[in-house]
Amino acid sequence: MFAVACNSNDKGGSASSDNNAGSPATTTEADANNPKGVGPHQNIQLTHPLDEKMVATGENVYNVKCASCHKTTDEKLVGPGWKGVTDRRTPEWIMNFVTNTEEMLEKDTAAQNMLEVCLVKMPNQNLAEADARGVLEFMRKNDGKQ
Ligand code: HEC
Repeated sequence: MFAVACNSNDKGGSASSDNNAGSPATTTEADANNPKGVGPHQNIQLTHPLDEKMVATGENVYNVKCASCHKTTDEKLVGPGWKGVTDRRTPEWIMNFVTNTEEMLEKDTAAQNMLEVCLVKMPNQNLAEADARGVLEFMRKNDGKQ
């Protein structure tokens, strides 16, 4: 089997339910242990059932920009496999990590722990918001969410 060293077991940014907070839309010197991560995304509205159009957008983005480093299984490639990522992380954390990668790797405890294990800094992929949101939906589908 493949090593899964890059899939840390740390539950630092572990996903709770959808979300509750009426927290402000911006973070400054944010709480490094915030399960929502560091960045502008503090309140993502999930759709039930999944939005298949967003899934299709996300799958396309995945194939073009992410598949070189991420598998959709739990196997590590350069970065962690995506299986279970929506259970490990909140939707906000995922959106912040994907769109605010540098600051997350610098300030967010869970992201830093991952970097310590993976040793490679994920480059910011400069995704448009809609593409990032599509990837989140694609991840939800990959995890069997509805
Ligand atoms: C050059 C390789 C590379 C590419 C391309 C890449 N990533 Fe990553 N990704 C990583 C690494 C490495 C990590 C682990 C964190 C670190 O060490 O920086 C990571 C971590 C992640 C995580 C957190 C995973 C977890 O288990 O918590 C998410 C989410 C993520 N990447 C999304 C994306 C998306 C979306 C794309 C495409 C738009 C992408 N990545 C493209 C290397 C990459």
